[in-house]
Amino acid sequence: MARTHYIAGNWKMNTSRAEAVKLAQDLVAVLKDKKGKYMIGVPFVYLDAVSQVIKGSNIILGAQDVAATANGAHTGEVSTEMLKDVGVQTVIIGHSERRHEIGESDELINKKVRRCLSEGLDVVLCIGELLADREAGNAETVCAFQLSADLAGVSAEQMAHVTIAYEPVWAIGTGKTATPEDAEAIHKFCREYIAKLYNQKVADETIIQYGGSMKASNAKDLLAQPDIDGGLIGGASLKADTFAPICEF
Ligand code: 13P
Repeated sequence: MARTHYIAGNWKMNTSRAEAVKLAQDLVAVLKDKKGKYMIGVPFVYLDAVSQVIKGSNIILGAQDVAATANGAHTGEVSTEMLKDVGVQTVIIGHSERRHEIGESDELINKKVRRCLSEGLDVVLCIGELLADREAGNAETVCAFQLSADLAGVSAEQMAHVTIAYEPVWAIGTGKTATPEDAEAIHKFCREYIAKLYNQKVADETIIQYGGSMKASNAKDLLAQPDIDGGLIGGASLKADTFAPICEF
């Protein structure tokens, strides 16, 4: 089965309510005739407003995080129930900014992944090595560890609802992009590793996005690689005219 190009914007902690609504309106207009798969990861407080704007469009509504538990006494958390209630279909989990700024563990990330899948939400699972890992020659080891730990207990059937985003931490927001060859090497490694964890069919069907300073000027070469199936875009996703060109390739 051919994998569809899947381009996602991670808005991170950006925009006002008015800016979020405007950006969503602009994206609905520019993406309406495009044939790929598109998602926007919107701040929690603007999900409901953006949901109204993109309803019926070809854009998937994503959240940037989720609680690992059901509704209850968990101050400050946002549950799968709440996300579904406002129309969220997919959740970005394990972003490096949550791993490294907030201190999320692979154990917690795994709980969030399993919670979403059991509640009918899709997942974009982010993995990727730090610069020190890469310099020590450990990029593959780190990605393999994160894949096996974060996907523990996830079945082959559930993998149809999981997208992997390979985001080398040193490339995020830095303007430094992995070369298409370096990125492809890790993507290929991850696909082979998924085949070991599951089977070849799951590996062949899993979409693996690249993230880290992706923009229109480098997206074409990255997306031309056989194992790079899309992008998770931060900075360049905050304007329709920088995001839409990435969706052309
Ligand atoms: P940038 O595109 O700003 O480097 O961010 C990438 C990212 O972290 C997407 O999740």
